[in-house]
Amino acid sequence: MSVTHAPQTADVLTRQDPELAEILLGELDRQSSTLQLIAAENFCSPAVLAALGSPLANKYAEGYPGARHHGGCEIVDVAERLAVERAKALFGADHANVQSHSGSSAVLAAYAALLRPGDTVLALGLPYGGHLTHGSPANFSGRWFDFVPYGVDAETGLIDHDQVRALARTHRPKAIVCGSIAYPRHIDHAFFREVADEVGAYLIADAAHPIGLVAGGAAPNPVPYADIVCATTHKVLRGPRGGMILCGNELAERVDRAVFPFTQGGAQMHTIAAKAVAFGEAATPAFGAYAHQVIANAKVLAAALADEGLVVTTGGTDTHLVTADPAPLGVDGRTARGRLAAAGMVLDCCALPHADSRGLRLGTAAVTTQGMAEKEMERIAALLAGVVRGEAESARAREEVRDLVGGFPPYPA
Ligand SMILES: Cc1ncc(COP(=O)(O)O)c(C=O)c1O
Repeated sequence: MSVTHAPQTADVLTRQDPELAEILLGELDRQSSTLQLIAAENFCSPAVLAALGSPLANKYAEGYPGARHHGGCEIVDVAERLAVERAKALFGADHANVQSHSGSSAVLAAYAALLRPGDTVLALGLPYGGHLTHGSPANFSGRWFDFVPYGVDAETGLIDHDQVRALARTHRPKAIVCGSIAYPRHIDHAFFREVADEVGAYLIADAAHPIGLVAGGAAPNPVPYADIVCATTHKVLRGPRGGMILCGNELAERVDRAVFPFTQGGAQMHTIAAKAVAFGEAATPAFGAYAHQVIANAKVLAAALADEGLVVTTGGTDTHLVTADPAPLGVDGRTARGRLAAAGMVLDCCALPHADSRGLRLGTAAVTTQGMAEKEMERIAALLAGVVRGEAESARAREEVRDLVGGFPPYPA
């Protein structure tokens, strides 16, 4: 089998399952001909895709390397050990568990390792950028734990540290969670560590978003501060869809048992192999340059959007992520997203702190992987604003987007 990147995968499928091949090629065309501005997405490399589409997918491997419930694991054990060692080296962690199927599964396991049902947890409230796993009533977290939300300052949009400290002193949580789906600034891990120590709480850093920037040396590393770091591997980190947990040696066994057998079954060895590939890629100087360019692009994008009249949350960004209110352009986030989708600009809506309407959330991870830089960010902001204002006819804007992305194919032939 020679599966090296998406188009070749499609060749295999075209022969065997043309119906599905057409779907795959349709999605490849969508990804290549529209602008991918979803902050949580990226284009993983042909090598990562090759590992994902490999015969490692066939292997059952409950347990951990050297202690499996299935026979024949001696080769995949090597793959998992490699992924673990690469993750530990990349993030300076004592221990890494690379089996979590997703970011949510990693958070679930972190809670399972540290908490009992009914425990109190302090986390960023969902209206301010907390994730579903940070206490949403629709999620296990809100059902099983007593979440106390902290927020952001109404003026600056920055995490309200005074409120965090006051709530921690009042509620004496068992754990404090720092991390967000939409907070564009670096998180002050030292501050959260100090508050956690003062009230005797565990600190869980949910670094799903910035972990790729951390890998590239472009954002502060939560590992020295948090008891447990949860992350995804598919955002800026540019690996396969999945999760990961980092911790110190003292919690290693509890974390491993919380992943398997407490919350998951067999490890997905093809994904773990793909994580190993991604960690290897992330350890290169080229990835460091990429991570810094992701942030440089996001800063230019934020400034250009502000020049176009959008209100950029916190006035800018330190990361790959920009959130903005399009209201001054005459529409709310939902309407804006619809117009942009028609023009081939794909992004998300998000809650805006202290606002009734929704805003837009954009990220630069994918476009930077495609090779776009500051000049393209300015073009994207101008295009976006024109579409949101309703000035640009959607067919003409669609052509402009096609023209822009045509110069930056995510998977060059
Ligand atoms: C902060 C945070 N935690 C957890 C998750 C969950 O990741 P997944 O969608 O892989 O479950 C996300 C996903 O965006 C996230 O941003």
